Amino acid sequence: MNFDLLISDLNSTARQGSDALLVLLPDGHKPDQAAKDELSALVAQALKAGDIQTQAGKLLALYKPSQAKANRVLLAGIGAGTPRLVRQAVAGALGALRSGSPALKKLTICFAGTPAAGSVRAAVLAVADASYVYTTTKSKAEARGLARVTLAVPKSVAKETVQDEFQRATATVVGVELAKEWANRPANHATPTHLGTAAQALAKLPRITCQVLGPKEVAKLKMGSFMAVAQGSQEPLRFIVLHYKGAAPSQAPTVLVGKGITFDTGGISIKPAGEMDEMKYDMGGAASVLGTFRALAELQPAINVVGLIPSCENMPDGGAIKPGDVVTSMSGQTIEILNTDAEGRLILCDALSYAERFKPAAVVDMATLTGACVIALGAVRSGLFSTSDELAQRLLAAGESAQDLAWRMPLDDEYAEGLKSNFADVANIAGRAAGAVTAAKFLQRFTDKFPWAHLDIAGTAWKGGAAKGATGRPVGLLLEFLLGQAASPVKGRKTASAKA
Ligand code: BES
Ligand code: MN
Ligand code: ZN
Repeated sequence: MNFDLLISDLNSTARQGSDALLVLLPDGHKPDQAAKDELSALVAQALKAGDIQTQAGKLLALYKPSQAKANRVLLAGIGAGTPRLVRQAVAGALGALRSGSPALKKLTICFAGTPAAGSVRAAVLAVADASYVYTTTKSKAEARGLARVTLAVPKSVAKETVQDEFQRATATVVGVELAKEWANRPANHATPTHLGTAAQALAKLPRITCQVLGPKEVAKLKMGSFMAVAQGSQEPLRFIVLHYKGAAPSQAPTVLVGKGITFDTGGISIKPAGEMDEMKYDMGGAASVLGTFRALAELQPAINVVGLIPSCENMPDGGAIKPGDVVTSMSGQTIEILNTDAEGRLILCDALSYAERFKPAAVVDMATLTGACVIALGAVRSGLFSTSDELAQRLLAAGESAQDLAWRMPLDDEYAEGLKSNFADVANIAGRAAGAVTAAKFLQRFTDKFPWAHLDIAGTAWKGGAAKGATGRPVGLLLEFLLGQAASPVKGRKTASAKA
Protein backbone atom coordinates (compact mmCIF):
# COMPACT_ATOMS: atom_id res chain seq x y z
CA MET A 1 0.00 0.00 0.00
CA ASN A 2 1.25 3.44 -0.94
CA PHE A 3 0.77 6.59 1.08
CA ASP A 4 1.14 10.18 -0.17
CA LEU A 5 1.03 13.43 1.73
CA LEU A 6 -0.63 16.36 0.02
CA ILE A 7 -0.66 19.90 1.36
CA SER A 8 -3.76 21.37 -0.16
CA ASP A 9 -7.26 22.66 0.61
CA LEU A 10 -10.51 20.71 0.35
CA ASN A 11 -11.43 22.11 -3.04
CA SER A 12 -8.24 21.11 -4.85
CA THR A 13 -8.06 17.84 -2.91
CA ALA A 14 -11.53 16.93 -4.15
CA ARG A 15 -10.34 17.33 -7.70
CA GLN A 16 -7.74 14.59 -7.22
CA GLY A 17 -9.24 11.42 -8.62
CA SER A 18 -9.98 8.64 -6.12
CA ASP A 19 -12.63 6.03 -5.37
CA ALA A 20 -13.62 7.73 -2.17
CA LEU A 21 -12.92 10.97 -0.39
CA LEU A 22 -13.09 11.01 3.40
CA VAL A 23 -13.37 14.48 4.93
CA LEU A 24 -12.46 14.77 8.63
CA LEU A 25 -14.34 17.52 10.43
CA PRO A 26 -13.20 18.73 13.86
CA ASP A 27 -15.42 20.44 16.45
CA GLY A 28 -16.03 24.09 15.65
CA HIS A 29 -15.03 23.67 12.04
CA LYS A 30 -15.74 26.88 10.16
CA PRO A 31 -15.94 26.24 6.44
CA ASP A 32 -13.78 28.66 4.51
CA GLN A 33 -16.14 31.52 3.66
CA ALA A 34 -13.99 32.50 0.71
CA ALA A 35 -14.18 29.02 -0.79
CA LYS A 36 -16.89 29.08 -3.39
CA ASP A 37 -16.52 25.47 -4.43
CA GLU A 38 -19.41 23.05 -4.25
CA LEU A 39 -17.92 20.64 -1.74
CA SER A 40 -17.08 23.34 0.82
CA ALA A 41 -20.61 24.66 0.35
CA LEU A 42 -22.10 21.21 0.91
CA VAL A 43 -20.06 20.76 4.08
CA ALA A 44 -21.18 24.18 5.32
CA GLN A 45 -24.80 23.37 4.55
CA ALA A 46 -24.70 19.98 6.21
CA LEU A 47 -23.09 21.45 9.32
CA LYS A 48 -25.61 24.28 9.49
CA ALA A 49 -28.56 21.94 9.05
CA GLY A 50 -27.14 19.59 11.71
CA ASP A 51 -27.06 16.73 9.20
CA ILE A 52 -23.45 16.10 10.11
CA GLN A 53 -22.17 16.58 13.62
CA THR A 54 -18.50 16.89 14.38
CA GLN A 55 -18.58 14.42 17.25
CA ALA A 56 -16.17 11.56 16.61
CA GLY A 57 -17.98 8.63 15.07
CA LYS A 58 -20.63 10.65 13.19
CA LEU A 59 -20.75 9.99 9.45
CA LEU A 60 -22.58 11.49 6.48
CA ALA A 61 -22.28 10.02 3.00
CA LEU A 62 -22.65 12.20 -0.11
CA TYR A 63 -22.97 10.70 -3.55
CA LYS A 64 -21.10 12.09 -6.55
CA PRO A 65 -20.98 15.82 -5.80
CA SER A 66 -20.26 17.10 -9.28
CA GLN A 67 -16.95 18.80 -8.54
CA ALA A 68 -15.45 15.91 -6.65
CA LYS A 69 -13.58 13.35 -8.66
CA ALA A 70 -14.77 10.58 -6.39
CA ASN A 71 -17.98 8.60 -6.47
CA ARG A 72 -18.29 8.59 -2.76
CA VAL A 73 -17.63 11.38 -0.34
CA LEU A 74 -17.87 10.61 3.34
CA LEU A 75 -17.90 13.30 5.99
CA ALA A 76 -16.70 12.13 9.38
CA GLY A 77 -16.65 13.99 12.69
CA ILE A 78 -13.40 13.82 14.65
CA GLY A 79 -14.52 15.77 17.73
CA ALA A 80 -11.58 17.47 19.44
CA GLY A 81 -9.30 15.96 16.77
CA THR A 82 -7.02 14.07 19.16
CA PRO A 83 -5.07 11.14 17.68
CA ARG A 84 -7.29 8.71 19.58
CA LEU A 85 -10.51 10.20 18.15
CA VAL A 86 -9.04 10.42 14.64
CA ARG A 87 -8.09 6.78 14.83
CA GLN A 88 -11.60 5.79 15.92
CA ALA A 89 -13.27 7.97 13.29
CA VAL A 90 -11.08 6.71 10.45
CA ALA A 91 -11.56 3.08 11.49
CA GLY A 92 -15.34 3.59 11.57
CA ALA A 93 -15.36 5.40 8.22
CA LEU A 94 -13.29 2.65 6.59
CA GLY A 95 -15.82 0.12 7.81
CA ALA A 96 -18.61 2.12 6.16
CA LEU A 97 -16.68 2.64 2.92
CA ARG A 98 -15.68 -0.98 2.65
CA SER A 99 -19.26 -2.19 2.88
CA GLY A 100 -20.02 -0.15 -0.27
CA SER A 101 -19.02 -1.30 -3.72
CA PRO A 102 -17.03 -1.20 -5.92
CA ALA A 103 -13.89 -2.21 -4.05
CA LEU A 104 -11.97 0.67 -2.62
CA LYS A 105 -8.60 0.98 -4.35
CA LYS A 106 -7.74 4.61 -4.05
CA LEU A 107 -8.72 6.65 -1.02
CA THR A 108 -8.16 10.28 -0.16
CA ILE A 109 -8.42 11.46 3.43
CA CYS A 110 -8.73 15.18 3.86
CA PHE A 111 -8.28 17.02 7.16
CA ALA A 112 -10.73 19.91 6.88
CA GLY A 113 -8.99 21.76 9.72
CA THR A 114 -5.34 21.91 10.80
CA PRO A 115 -4.59 18.44 12.23
CA ALA A 116 -3.50 18.21 15.88
CA ALA A 117 -0.04 16.76 16.54
CA GLY A 118 -0.11 12.99 16.05
CA SER A 119 -3.41 12.83 14.22
CA VAL A 120 -1.97 12.42 10.71
CA ARG A 121 -0.05 9.45 12.05
CA ALA A 122 -3.21 8.15 13.71
CA ALA A 123 -5.09 8.35 10.41
CA VAL A 124 -2.33 6.52 8.51
CA LEU A 125 -2.16 3.74 11.11
CA ALA A 126 -5.94 3.37 11.26
CA VAL A 127 -6.27 3.00 7.49
CA ALA A 128 -3.47 0.47 7.38
CA ASP A 129 -4.99 -1.48 10.23
CA ALA A 130 -8.51 -1.51 8.78
CA SER A 131 -7.36 -2.61 5.34
CA TYR A 132 -4.80 -5.24 6.37
CA VAL A 133 -5.48 -8.77 5.17
CA TYR A 134 -3.58 -11.95 5.96
CA THR A 135 -3.15 -14.11 2.85
CA THR A 136 -0.07 -16.31 3.26
CA THR A 137 -1.68 -19.65 4.04
CA LYS A 138 -4.92 -19.30 2.05
CA SER A 139 -5.13 -20.91 -1.37
CA LYS A 140 -7.48 -18.36 -2.93
CA ALA A 141 -6.88 -15.31 -0.82
CA GLU A 142 -8.09 -11.94 -1.93
CA ALA A 143 -5.23 -9.54 -1.49
CA ARG A 144 -5.67 -6.13 0.09
CA GLY A 145 -7.79 -4.00 -2.22
CA LEU A 146 -6.67 -0.59 -1.04
CA ALA A 147 -3.55 0.33 -2.97
CA ARG A 148 -3.14 4.08 -2.64
CA VAL A 149 -4.00 6.45 0.18
CA THR A 150 -3.52 10.20 -0.03
CA LEU A 151 -3.51 12.24 3.17
CA ALA A 152 -4.41 15.85 2.52
CA VAL A 153 -3.77 18.56 5.10
CA PRO A 154 -4.53 22.28 4.78
CA LYS A 155 -1.80 24.79 4.00
CA SER A 156 -1.99 26.11 7.56
CA VAL A 157 0.07 23.15 8.85
CA ALA A 158 3.70 23.36 9.98
CA LYS A 159 5.03 21.64 6.88
CA GLU A 160 8.18 20.03 8.26
CA THR A 161 6.53 18.71 11.40
CA VAL A 162 3.73 17.07 9.48
CA GLN A 163 6.13 15.61 6.90
CA ASP A 164 8.23 14.14 9.69
CA GLU A 165 5.16 12.70 11.38
CA PHE A 166 3.94 11.28 8.07
CA GLN A 167 7.30 9.56 7.49
CA ARG A 168 7.24 8.00 10.95
CA ALA A 169 3.73 6.82 10.30
CA THR A 170 4.49 5.09 7.02
CA ALA A 171 7.65 3.50 8.49
CA THR A 172 5.57 2.29 11.43
CA VAL A 173 3.05 0.73 9.04
CA VAL A 174 5.79 -1.22 7.25
CA GLY A 175 7.14 -2.47 10.59
CA VAL A 176 3.73 -3.25 12.07
CA GLU A 177 2.76 -5.23 8.98
CA LEU A 178 5.92 -7.32 9.08
CA ALA A 179 5.21 -8.07 12.74
CA LYS A 180 1.60 -8.97 11.96
CA GLU A 181 2.64 -11.23 9.12
CA TRP A 182 5.02 -13.29 11.26
CA ALA A 183 2.77 -13.40 14.29
CA ASN A 184 -0.23 -14.48 12.21
CA ARG A 185 1.57 -17.32 10.46
CA PRO A 186 0.64 -20.68 11.96
CA ALA A 187 3.35 -22.38 14.00
CA ASN A 188 4.13 -24.88 11.24
CA HIS A 189 4.83 -21.94 8.91
CA ALA A 190 6.70 -19.93 11.52
CA THR A 191 9.22 -22.24 13.16
CA PRO A 192 12.36 -20.94 14.90
CA THR A 193 14.20 -21.76 11.66
CA HIS A 194 11.71 -19.68 9.64
CA LEU A 195 12.15 -16.76 12.04
CA GLY A 196 15.92 -17.04 11.58
CA THR A 197 15.47 -16.82 7.82
CA ALA A 198 13.16 -13.82 8.20
CA ALA A 199 15.80 -12.06 10.31
CA GLN A 200 18.47 -12.86 7.75
CA ALA A 201 16.29 -11.34 5.04
CA LEU A 202 16.25 -8.08 7.04
CA ALA A 203 20.03 -8.01 6.80
CA LYS A 204 19.64 -7.18 3.11
CA LEU A 205 18.40 -3.75 4.19
CA PRO A 206 20.80 -0.87 4.82
CA ARG A 207 22.69 -0.79 8.16
CA ILE A 208 21.30 -4.16 9.33
CA THR A 209 23.35 -7.28 9.96
CA CYS A 210 22.21 -10.58 11.38
CA GLN A 211 23.63 -13.68 12.96
CA VAL A 212 21.57 -16.80 13.65
CA LEU A 213 22.90 -19.26 16.23
CA GLY A 214 21.77 -22.90 16.41
CA PRO A 215 21.81 -25.53 19.19
CA LYS A 216 25.60 -26.05 19.16
CA GLU A 217 26.48 -22.39 19.51
CA VAL A 218 23.83 -21.88 22.16
CA ALA A 219 25.22 -24.85 24.12
CA LYS A 220 28.66 -23.27 23.94
CA LEU A 221 27.22 -20.09 25.44
CA LYS A 222 25.86 -22.23 28.32
CA MET A 223 22.28 -21.04 27.88
CA GLY A 224 21.05 -23.96 29.96
CA SER A 225 17.68 -22.42 30.72
CA PHE A 226 16.82 -21.63 27.08
CA MET A 227 18.03 -25.09 25.99
CA ALA A 228 15.85 -26.75 28.64
CA VAL A 229 12.69 -25.31 27.08
CA ALA A 230 13.74 -26.32 23.56
CA GLN A 231 14.56 -29.91 24.49
CA GLY A 232 10.95 -31.13 24.33
CA SER A 233 10.60 -30.29 20.64
CA GLN A 234 11.73 -31.76 17.32
CA GLU A 235 12.31 -28.26 15.99
CA PRO A 236 15.84 -26.99 16.61
CA LEU A 237 16.10 -23.73 18.56
CA ARG A 238 17.46 -20.51 17.10
CA PHE A 239 19.08 -17.54 18.80
CA ILE A 240 18.83 -14.52 16.52
CA VAL A 241 21.16 -11.52 16.87
CA LEU A 242 20.30 -8.45 14.80
CA HIS A 243 22.31 -5.24 14.62
CA TYR A 244 21.16 -1.89 13.35
CA LYS A 245 24.21 0.37 13.09
CA GLY A 246 23.23 3.99 12.58
CA ALA A 247 25.76 5.68 14.89
CA ALA A 248 29.45 5.47 15.81
CA PRO A 249 30.46 2.09 17.30
CA SER A 250 31.41 3.94 20.50
CA GLN A 251 27.77 4.80 21.12
CA ALA A 252 26.15 2.29 23.50
CA PRO A 253 23.29 0.42 21.81
CA THR A 254 19.74 -0.04 22.96
CA VAL A 255 18.98 -3.76 23.08
CA LEU A 256 15.55 -5.15 22.24
CA VAL A 257 14.79 -8.71 23.36
CA GLY A 258 11.73 -10.53 21.99
CA LYS A 259 10.20 -13.75 23.30
CA GLY A 260 10.12 -16.14 20.34
CA ILE A 261 8.13 -19.19 21.48
CA THR A 262 6.70 -20.23 18.11
CA PHE A 263 4.18 -22.47 19.88
CA ASP A 264 3.44 -22.83 23.57
CA THR A 265 1.66 -26.07 24.49
CA GLY A 266 2.69 -25.53 28.11
CA GLY A 267 5.03 -28.54 27.89
CA ILE A 268 4.44 -31.29 30.49
CA SER A 269 2.39 -28.74 32.49
CA ILE A 270 0.17 -28.83 29.41
CA LYS A 271 -2.42 -26.18 28.64
CA PRO A 272 -6.15 -26.90 28.22
CA ALA A 273 -7.27 -27.42 24.58
CA GLY A 274 -9.61 -24.40 24.31
CA GLU A 275 -8.04 -21.60 22.28
CA MET A 276 -4.65 -23.29 22.42
CA ASP A 277 -4.22 -22.36 18.73
CA GLU A 278 -3.66 -18.79 19.92
CA MET A 279 -0.36 -19.89 21.40
CA LYS A 280 1.09 -19.56 17.89
CA TYR A 281 1.16 -15.87 18.90
CA ASP A 282 3.64 -16.59 21.68
CA MET A 283 6.36 -15.17 19.43
CA GLY A 284 4.66 -11.76 19.32
CA GLY A 285 7.65 -10.21 21.12
CA ALA A 286 10.01 -11.65 18.50
CA ALA A 287 7.75 -10.38 15.72
CA SER A 288 7.87 -6.89 17.23
CA VAL A 289 11.68 -6.95 17.14
CA LEU A 290 11.63 -7.94 13.44
CA GLY A 291 9.05 -5.25 12.69
CA THR A 292 10.97 -2.56 14.56
CA PHE A 293 14.16 -3.36 12.63
CA ARG A 294 12.22 -3.18 9.38
CA ALA A 295 10.98 0.29 10.37
CA LEU A 296 14.48 1.40 11.44
CA ALA A 297 15.75 0.57 7.96
CA GLU A 298 13.09 2.92 6.55
CA LEU A 299 13.99 5.88 8.75
CA GLN A 300 17.70 5.22 9.34
CA PRO A 301 18.06 7.18 12.59
CA ALA A 302 21.51 7.88 14.10
CA ILE A 303 21.42 5.23 16.81
CA ASN A 304 22.71 1.70 17.45
CA VAL A 305 20.21 -1.05 18.19
CA VAL A 306 20.71 -4.74 18.92
CA GLY A 307 17.82 -7.19 18.56
CA LEU A 308 17.93 -10.54 20.40
CA ILE A 309 15.40 -13.30 19.78
CA PRO A 310 15.57 -16.60 21.66
CA SER A 311 13.23 -18.86 19.69
CA CYS A 312 11.97 -22.40 20.19
CA GLU A 313 8.80 -24.41 20.71
CA ASN A 314 7.48 -25.41 24.13
CA MET A 315 6.43 -29.06 23.60
CA PRO A 316 5.86 -32.11 25.82
CA ASP A 317 7.80 -35.00 24.28
CA GLY A 318 9.80 -37.76 25.97
CA GLY A 319 12.81 -35.50 26.28
CA ALA A 320 10.90 -32.56 27.68
CA ILE A 321 11.74 -30.89 30.99
CA LYS A 322 9.67 -32.06 33.96
CA PRO A 323 8.28 -30.09 36.87
CA GLY A 324 10.97 -30.06 39.55
CA ASP A 325 13.89 -30.19 37.12
CA VAL A 326 16.72 -27.82 37.99
CA VAL A 327 18.68 -26.14 35.19
CA THR A 328 21.64 -23.77 35.15
CA SER A 329 21.15 -20.49 33.32
CA MET A 330 23.87 -18.63 31.42
CA SER A 331 24.23 -16.31 34.43
CA GLY A 332 25.17 -19.30 36.60
CA GLN A 333 21.98 -19.02 38.66
CA THR A 334 20.17 -22.34 38.99
CA ILE A 335 16.42 -22.47 38.37
CA GLU A 336 13.85 -24.95 39.65
CA ILE A 337 11.25 -25.40 36.91
CA LEU A 338 8.08 -25.91 38.95
CA ASN A 339 5.82 -25.28 35.95
CA THR A 340 6.98 -25.94 32.40
CA ASP A 341 4.34 -23.51 31.13
CA ALA A 342 6.28 -20.60 32.64
CA GLU A 343 8.76 -21.03 29.77
CA GLY A 344 8.97 -17.47 28.47
CA ARG A 345 11.03 -16.27 31.42
CA LEU A 346 13.30 -19.31 31.00
CA ILE A 347 14.32 -18.35 27.48
CA LEU A 348 14.40 -14.60 28.17
CA CYS A 349 16.72 -14.83 31.17
CA ASP A 350 19.54 -16.25 29.03
CA ALA A 351 18.95 -13.63 26.33
CA LEU A 352 19.17 -10.92 29.02
CA SER A 353 22.49 -12.35 30.21
CA TYR A 354 23.71 -12.38 26.61
CA ALA A 355 22.75 -8.68 26.31
CA GLU A 356 25.42 -7.74 28.88
CA ARG A 357 28.20 -8.08 26.29
CA PHE A 358 26.89 -5.05 24.40
CA LYS A 359 27.22 -2.72 27.45
CA PRO A 360 23.78 -1.41 26.55
CA ALA A 361 22.39 2.05 27.24
CA ALA A 362 19.13 0.23 27.95
CA VAL A 363 17.54 -3.18 27.45
CA VAL A 364 13.84 -3.56 26.70
CA ASP A 365 12.23 -6.98 26.45
CA MET A 366 8.86 -7.71 24.89
CA ALA A 367 7.03 -10.89 25.79
CA THR A 368 3.58 -12.46 25.69
CA LEU A 369 4.55 -13.51 29.18
CA THR A 370 1.55 -13.99 31.45
CA GLY A 371 -2.17 -14.62 31.35
CA ALA A 372 -2.19 -12.58 34.57
CA CYS A 373 -1.28 -9.45 32.61
CA VAL A 374 -4.31 -10.00 30.39
CA ILE A 375 -6.45 -10.14 33.53
CA ALA A 376 -4.84 -6.98 34.90
CA LEU A 377 -4.84 -4.73 31.81
CA GLY A 378 -6.85 -6.45 29.08
CA ALA A 379 -6.18 -5.58 25.46
CA VAL A 380 -5.81 -1.82 25.91
CA ARG A 381 -2.42 -1.30 27.56
CA SER A 382 0.71 -3.43 27.70
CA GLY A 383 2.22 -3.98 31.16
CA LEU A 384 5.43 -2.00 31.66
CA PHE A 385 7.98 -2.88 34.36
CA SER A 386 11.25 -1.03 34.75
CA THR A 387 14.19 -0.59 37.10
CA SER A 388 14.72 2.94 35.76
CA ASP A 389 12.18 5.74 36.18
CA GLU A 390 13.63 7.61 33.24
CA LEU A 391 13.41 4.61 30.94
CA ALA A 392 9.86 3.93 32.12
CA GLN A 393 8.81 7.52 31.49
CA ARG A 394 10.26 7.45 28.00
CA LEU A 395 8.52 4.23 27.11
CA LEU A 396 5.19 5.43 28.50
CA ALA A 397 5.49 8.71 26.59
CA ALA A 398 6.46 6.89 23.38
CA GLY A 399 3.38 4.71 23.80
CA GLU A 400 1.14 7.77 24.25
CA SER A 401 2.56 9.49 21.25
CA ALA A 402 2.32 6.41 19.01
CA GLN A 403 -1.12 5.46 20.38
CA ASP A 404 0.37 2.14 21.49
CA LEU A 405 -0.31 2.43 25.19
CA ALA A 406 1.43 0.91 28.20
CA TRP A 407 0.88 1.14 31.96
CA ARG A 408 3.57 0.97 34.61
CA MET A 409 3.45 -1.91 37.06
CA PRO A 410 5.39 -2.33 40.32
CA LEU A 411 8.61 -4.22 41.08
CA ASP A 412 8.69 -4.14 44.90
CA ASP A 413 11.02 -6.79 46.27
CA GLU A 414 8.23 -8.27 48.40
CA TYR A 415 6.76 -9.66 45.18
CA ALA A 416 9.80 -11.94 44.78
CA GLU A 417 9.12 -13.85 48.05
CA GLY A 418 7.22 -16.61 46.30
CA LEU A 419 10.06 -17.33 43.87
CA LYS A 420 12.17 -18.92 46.62
CA SER A 421 13.16 -22.54 46.04
CA ASN A 422 14.43 -25.28 48.36
CA PHE A 423 16.39 -26.87 45.53
CA ALA A 424 17.76 -24.04 43.36
CA ASP A 425 18.65 -20.34 43.52
CA VAL A 426 15.19 -19.42 42.28
CA ALA A 427 11.93 -21.09 41.18
CA ASN A 428 10.32 -20.20 37.87
CA ILE A 429 6.89 -19.53 39.36
CA ALA A 430 5.39 -17.99 42.48
CA GLY A 431 1.77 -18.28 43.61
CA ARG A 432 -1.31 -17.16 41.66
CA ALA A 433 -1.27 -13.64 43.08
CA ALA A 434 0.27 -10.87 40.96
CA GLY A 435 1.44 -13.32 38.30
CA ALA A 436 2.58 -10.61 35.86
CA VAL A 437 4.68 -8.97 38.58
CA THR A 438 6.31 -12.17 39.85
CA ALA A 439 7.26 -13.05 36.25
CA ALA A 440 8.92 -9.63 35.93
CA LYS A 441 10.67 -10.12 39.30
CA PHE A 442 12.11 -13.37 37.95
CA LEU A 443 13.49 -11.55 34.89
CA GLN A 444 14.85 -8.71 37.00
CA ARG A 445 17.39 -11.10 38.54
CA PHE A 446 19.18 -11.17 35.20
CA THR A 447 19.34 -7.41 34.61
CA ASP A 448 21.90 -6.13 37.15
CA LYS A 449 24.23 -4.73 34.52
CA PHE A 450 21.96 -2.31 32.65
CA PRO A 451 18.83 -0.17 32.87
CA TRP A 452 16.01 -2.51 31.98
CA ALA A 453 12.37 -2.48 31.05
CA HIS A 454 9.97 -5.31 30.34
CA LEU A 455 6.75 -5.05 28.32
CA ASP A 456 4.23 -7.81 28.98
CA ILE A 457 2.25 -7.83 25.73
CA ALA A 458 0.15 -10.94 26.44
CA GLY A 459 -3.06 -8.89 26.13
CA THR A 460 -2.03 -6.53 23.34
CA ALA A 461 -0.07 -8.53 20.74
CA TRP A 462 -3.13 -10.14 19.19
CA LYS A 463 -6.91 -10.08 19.18
CA GLY A 464 -8.98 -13.19 19.74
CA GLY A 465 -12.54 -13.97 18.65
CA ALA A 466 -14.02 -13.23 15.22
CA ALA A 467 -11.40 -10.60 14.45
CA LYS A 468 -8.59 -12.96 15.46
CA GLY A 469 -5.29 -11.55 14.31
CA ALA A 470 -2.01 -9.98 15.31
CA THR A 471 -1.95 -6.26 16.15
CA GLY A 472 1.71 -5.55 15.39
CA ARG A 473 2.06 -4.02 18.85
CA PRO A 474 4.33 -2.74 20.33
CA VAL A 475 6.22 -1.80 17.15
CA GLY A 476 4.76 1.73 17.24
CA LEU A 477 5.86 2.28 20.84
CA LEU A 478 9.35 0.87 20.26
CA LEU A 479 10.03 2.88 17.13
CA GLU A 480 8.95 6.10 18.81
CA PHE A 481 11.10 5.27 21.85
CA LEU A 482 14.16 4.54 19.69
CA LEU A 483 13.78 7.77 17.72
CA GLY A 484 13.77 9.55 21.08
CA GLN A 485 16.94 7.66 22.06
CA ALA A 486 18.56 8.91 18.87
CA ALA A 487 17.81 12.48 19.93
CA SER A 488 19.14 12.00 23.49
CA PRO A 489 20.05 8.61 24.97
CA VAL A 490 18.66 7.51 28.33
CA LYS A 491 21.03 8.29 31.22
CA GLY A 492 20.48 4.88 32.62
CA ARG A 493 20.36 5.57 36.33
CA LYS A 494 18.64 2.75 38.15
CA THR A 495 15.89 3.80 40.49
CA ALA A 496 14.37 0.57 41.75
CA SER A 497 16.25 -1.98 43.81
CA ALA A 498 18.35 -4.31 41.73
CA LYS A 499 17.92 -7.78 43.12
CA ALA A 500 15.26 -9.86 44.74
N1 BES B 1 2.50 -17.65 26.76
C1 BES B 1 1.92 -17.80 28.04
C2 BES B 1 1.22 -16.54 28.53
C3 BES B 1 -0.13 -16.25 27.91
C4 BES B 1 -1.25 -16.96 28.28
C5 BES B 1 -0.26 -15.22 27.02
C6 BES B 1 -2.47 -16.65 27.74
C7 BES B 1 -1.50 -14.90 26.49
C8 BES B 1 -2.60 -15.62 26.85
C9 BES B 1 3.01 -18.13 29.06
O1 BES B 1 4.06 -18.89 28.60
C10 BES B 1 2.35 -18.88 30.15
O2 BES B 1 1.89 -19.96 29.89
N2 BES B 1 2.31 -18.32 31.35
C11 BES B 1 1.67 -18.93 32.46
C12 BES B 1 2.53 -18.71 33.66
C13 BES B 1 2.10 -19.50 34.87
C14 BES B 1 2.34 -20.98 34.63
C15 BES B 1 2.87 -19.01 36.06
C16 BES B 1 0.30 -18.30 32.64
O3 BES B 1 0.18 -17.08 32.44
O4 BES B 1 -0.64 -19.03 32.93
MN1 MN C 1 3.63 -20.95 28.72
ZN1 ZN D 1 4.44 -18.75 26.59
